[in-house]
Amino acid sequence: MSLDRRRAALWLAMGLGPEWVLRDDVVDGAAAASARSPVDASTLEGHSAAARAAAIAGMAWDELEAAVAACTACSLCKTRTQTVFGVGSRTAPWMLIGEAPGAEEDARGEPFVGQAGRLLDNMLASIGRSRRADASQSVFIANVLKCRPPGNRNPQPDEVAACEPFLLRQIELVRPQLVLVMGRFAAQAVLRTDAPISALRGRVHRLRVGDGEVPAIVTYHPAYLLRNLADKAKSWADLCLALDVEAAAASRA
Ligand code: URA
Repeated sequence: MSLDRRRAALWLAMGLGPEWVLRDDVVDGAAAASARSPVDASTLEGHSAAARAAAIAGMAWDELEAAVAACTACSLCKTRTQTVFGVGSRTAPWMLIGEAPGAEEDARGEPFVGQAGRLLDNMLASIGRSRRADASQSVFIANVLKCRPPGNRNPQPDEVAACEPFLLRQIELVRPQLVLVMGRFAAQAVLRTDAPISALRGRVHRLRVGDGEVPAIVTYHPAYLLRNLADKAKSWADLCLALDVEAAAASRA
């Protein structure tokens, strides 16, 4: 059994699974860049999904942001006002991942700027964090999808697949010490599982990023919390778990 498989089995036995193993060809930027076929980074059009993913895996921030803005890989490009790349410090210790832009995010080009975003900002402030890139404890916030699904419908599998290389590259570039995944949809997409959020919360998942690992915590989506106030206490517990995981990692370093 390979080391990776042994480790995955161990994590599962410890109740820490499931493990999310990123495909090496997608996230190993250096390897991908050297194996890269001549994909036009400005359009990324007319290439196989693998060639497109490999090209994205080798991109630097500016190139990645331009590629997202120009993306026509799925039909959401026809209905979006603009793409929503992400916000915060690109070297933040925490990366937060939501589902997809809504109407206000589509209009403003920034994730979580509506009512749910205000709740998220308050939750972050309660633990001394902020989306402001110049804050002492900044976070980077991104979504699984960079374009708004019309009418805020659920993202479709082809849309998630087309956007996935962008998110993977963002995670690799930020190299956060911790990922906080918000909501069932984002958790299932990021962790590649069908498990319900009740089974995903309250444990530490491990994301393979390049040649390292990043702990990931699942919590409720802020929009869900607006409708289910009683679960705010559970989301507080999730934030405390994230702080504990971060503190434990710092004490080991
Ligand atoms: N919901 C999300 O998941 N992301 C946003 O950016 C806004 C609302």
